[in-house]
Amino acid sequence: MVKDERPHKVILVGDGAVGSTYAFSLVHQGIAQELGIVDIVKKRTQGDAIDLSDATPWTAPKHIYSTDYSDAKDADIVVISAGAPQKPGESRLDLVNKNLKILSSIVEPVVESGFDGIFVVAANPVDILTHATWRMSGFPKDRVIGSGTSLDTGRLQKLIGEMEHVDPRSVNAYMLGEHGDTEFPAWSYNNVGGVKVSDWVKAHGMGQDKLDEIHKSVKDMAYNIINLKGATFYGIGTALAMITKAILNDEHRVLPLSVPMDGQYGLHDVHIGTPAVIGRKGLEQIIEMPLSDKEQKLMTASADQLKKVMNKAFK
Ligand code: 2OP
Repeated sequence: MVKDERPHKVILVGDGAVGSTYAFSLVHQGIAQELGIVDIVKKRTQGDAIDLSDATPWTAPKHIYSTDYSDAKDADIVVISAGAPQKPGESRLDLVNKNLKILSSIVEPVVESGFDGIFVVAANPVDILTHATWRMSGFPKDRVIGSGTSLDTGRLQKLIGEMEHVDPRSVNAYMLGEHGDTEFPAWSYNNVGGVKVSDWVKAHGMGQDKLDEIHKSVKDMAYNIINLKGATFYGIGTALAMITKAILNDEHRVLPLSVPMDGQYGLHDVHIGTPAVIGRKGLEQIIEMPLSDKEQKLMTASADQLKKVMNKAFK
């Protein structure tokens, strides 16, 4: 649970492209007062701490420093963005063995430090690594959260917003399932101002093809960015800052995150993307969206895919 007294403290593990962008997003938005950065490349954390501190005269006051795992002891949140990134052509699931190994070298010392806050996992494949963090840490399920389909949902909102010429923040829409190739949009719900996107598309002379095109664009967005510039980091960095803010400020905000299934959608023993309420206690509530039969099948298939990879990797 996040402590009531200030300052709010975040430990970031993994100072690569995603981690450092997240750190900048925290600084820029004045989220958390203390940020310790851990990475095996110590020099990078030292350089980033100074560089980020240089931004603080124009942002909220902050204490930003390079540190080690023992410092997680009194942190509110440990964010894990460490791991091998996807190379062009690689799927997120292809990273599982490499990144599980890296993850275990992180979770153990964080737990040993006496950390009793909330883990937020962003490294890929995020659903499996979130489940693994929960298992490795021995933490209660409400204190281990993955970034899930938050970024994919943002991408979906962006594309629907562009199509309908509305601010993406006014688009009520979710991507559900794995943060990866089996994710899917909840078309039976997705709407703008209460008008279903599927109805809007029909009213504008288009059909299922248009919805399928949007689904494919969301699914392929990371691959496209990776092909163009080698990595994705602004979207996830900003989404992670939003998750951090929701926890630290006890917002009870609904976000699509990777959370543990306990019968929702008929699923068990898997972390997967669905709307969830988060606040300073971590995961407060899992929301089971009413799905169409087609969407339920997609959710089951997405969970099956995660379990298949997970069972092999955990052997
Ligand atoms: C993304 O979706 C690669 O998971 C990362 O941008």
